[in-house]
Amino acid sequence: MTTAIPMVAGGSASGSTILQASGVTMQFGGLRALNDVSFGLSEGEIIGLIGPNGAGKTTLFNCLTGLYAPTSGAVSLRGNPMPQDPARVTEQGVARTFQNIRLFPSMTAAENVMVGRHVRMKQSPLSSLLHGPSFRRSEAEAAERTEKLLAFVGLSQFAGELARNLPYGDQRRLEIARALATDPAVLLLDEPTAGMNAQETEATRQLIFAIRDLGISVVVIEHDTKFIFTLCDRVLVLVQGELLVEGSPDEVRGDPRVVEAYLGAPPDEVDAQIHAAEDEGENHR
Ligand SMILES: Nc1ncnc2c1ncn2[C@@H]1O[C@H](COP(=O)(O)OP(=O)(O)O)[C@@H](O)[C@H]1O
Ligand SMILES: [Mg+2]
Repeated sequence: MTTAIPMVAGGSASGSTILQASGVTMQFGGLRALNDVSFGLSEGEIIGLIGPNGAGKTTLFNCLTGLYAPTSGAVSLRGNPMPQDPARVTEQGVARTFQNIRLFPSMTAAENVMVGRHVRMKQSPLSSLLHGPSFRRSEAEAAERTEKLLAFVGLSQFAGELARNLPYGDQRRLEIARALATDPAVLLLDEPTAGMNAQETEATRQLIFAIRDLGISVVVIEHDTKFIFTLCDRVLVLVQGELLVEGSPDEVRGDPRVVEAYLGAPPDEVDAQIHAAEDEGENHR
């Protein structure tokens, strides 16, 4: 896959902070959905964001992508303030998928990816209108890139299929391909395995490792703690809008506050669940 992003040899976080949230607070009327949330995402890192329903996870993504302007606090990308405009945020290298899939159902899989690609096509309106040589070159490049992205996420066979006809799990992967088409440096995934079976979930875990190996930093929201603990370098636990715990999967699973506030099961039960996840995870690392 060709990419404008510098290649980083596999492995975990290596570099400097690429995305930074500082004291992000989001108030909806009387509801404080996020309260003073701060964290940094390093280059090449995979961060997991977990927490109960309504904890503020999606709201945090909305604040990181310019969809919401935080009531207070700030978000920066490579040290620069994040624009308050989702299209400009995408241009600057932050892509996302949505908890509720947002594809164009009546467009083919390939066309859905092309939509993402158009963010990177530098075309003057006149050139597009006249369909001149530069337009045709650009279109050919986009088509080639689309083919590679569909192959990368394992959807080549569905290129000409309408998005709405794809199996649910494949629609989620198509959304990831469309997000990758924007050449992101940071990818935010909101519940990428929701509704997937065990096999699809495992394929998605491997896909996220492959994305990280391209040099893209990832934040992933998921309820499946087994998935998160075997995928992520670092885990953030959000409870009622506050960052309760932050640490390695080992640190987080051992933290009594997490067990009590989030996992809600007796510690030994939680531990057994996480150990089982690790045993399985070792086969794939
Ligand atoms: N646009 C909005 N207007 C009002 N309340 C909202 C809005 N978006 C989210 N909320 C509320 O903020 C809280 C956090 O929601 P959300 O971020 O979706 O949680 P999570 O993704 O962790 O399940 C919830 O109580 C939700 O109802
Ligand atoms: Mg959510």
